[in-house]
Amino acid sequence: MPLTPHQAEALLAQARLAAENAYTPYSDFPVGAALLAENGQVICGVNVENASFGLTLCAERTALVKAISDGQQRFQAIAVWASRRPHGSVTPCGACRQVMAEFLKPDTPVIMSDSQTGEVRILTMAALLPEAFGPTTPLT
Ligand code: THU
Repeated sequence: MPLTPHQAEALLAQARLAAENAYTPYSDFPVGAALLAENGQVICGVNVENASFGLTLCAERTALVKAISDGQQRFQAIAVWASRRPHGSVTPCGACRQVMAEFLKPDTPVIMSDSQTGEVRILTMAALLPEAFGPTTPLT
């Protein structure tokens, strides 16, 4: 069932709240993600940086790993919120798109916004990662 605008806004609000817990001493770029599971549960994640830089975890992957660990594998949507727009837009990085494509179906909405403009963009997983190299047995 498609997400209502109210549901999308509510999920973004959770992502924004979660971003307050981001650990970003190196980039000062807090990001929050909120996953809406099929059963209605919301699982949040933040970016967790590391002094080695390369071991930094993005908010999207943190949320997914938390959700899978908690027994949720099917999702209706994900919202991503960032504190600002350093590069002109706030979209999941390439690594996150690949990990998201493992669990989010191609038509799953990815809701994105930031506090700098407040503009809300919604793209599908398929739009963010066309022709994804996906699991051999996709979730139905
Ligand atoms: N980051 C995310 O958490 N999600 C995104 O979609 C883009 C980038 C984080 C990683 C790093 O902590 C910081 O933002 C700067 O790249």
